[in-house]
Amino acid sequence: MMEGALLQAEAVSAGYGKMEILHGVSLAVRPGEMVSVIGPNGAGKSTAFKTIVGLLHPRAGRILFDGREITGLRPDQVLRLGLAYVPQGRIVFPQMTVLETLEMGAYIERDPAHVRDALDRVYALFPILDERQRQKAGTMSGGEQQMVAIARALMTTPKLILLDEPSLGLSPKFVALIFEKLTEMKRAGYTLMVVEQNAAKALSVADRGYVLELGRNRFEGTGPSLLADPEVKRLYLGG
Ligand SMILES: Nc1ncnc2c1ncn2[C@@H]1O[C@H](COP(=O)(O)OP(=O)(O)O)[C@@H](O)[C@H]1O
Ligand SMILES: [Mg+2]
Repeated sequence: MMEGALLQAEAVSAGYGKMEILHGVSLAVRPGEMVSVIGPNGAGKSTAFKTIVGLLHPRAGRILFDGREITGLRPDQVLRLGLAYVPQGRIVFPQMTVLETLEMGAYIERDPAHVRDALDRVYALFPILDERQRQKAGTMSGGEQQMVAIARALMTTPKLILLDEPSLGLSPKFVALIFEKLTEMKRAGYTLMVVEQNAAKALSVADRGYVLELGRNRFEGTGPSLLADPEVKRLYLGG
């Protein structure tokens, strides 16, 4: 157990059908932290996030969030408790405008004043979305769509946001911009856990990191200590 953790996944096992993918994975995030999760393709990073947010049911282990057990809760229940999730692949509805998408992101919020406050906060972080409110998401570039997907998740003003591969498939310019936005989000007080294939970059902006491999924890530590670890360097950072 980590003292004062906002999220704590403890020895979680989960998978698809008969196939077990996670074999006792543990992850934790403290309030205000930015935590990176790295590891090779197929390590179970996305599966871990899906299990934490309730899309998959753990077969063993438990998940605690903000002082209560959330193991087995539905995704909408987890979201209402303040845990937002941006899935891999920047899924936006192409025919919806930016504003419609953001308003949809706030669907659990009934008070229009809260929605306006959330929009103000999101536009402060992503000024380009303010300018593009009426643009259809499908006509935006990949990097812009990823910002829409992140902004939509922020509309619930979550206590923790999980981002799965936010920079995947983006041009170098947008990869840099997404990392800049993650850093800005942390500075603005958000707590983040991010899965990234861009391992060196992800560890360099993280307070702490985890390395998963074959559905198990392999390494963990502060961002700088993982970056300096010869084994981590050799195995995951390309020498
Ligand atoms: N919906 C699914 N059904 C069956 N197997 C899946 C499904 N999604 C992922 N897997 C398998 O689970 C393993 C871990 O996948 P994933 O969690 O996506 O890894 P990562 O995100 O680390 O690349 C892989 O072997 C993958 O093929
Ligand atoms: Mg993945």
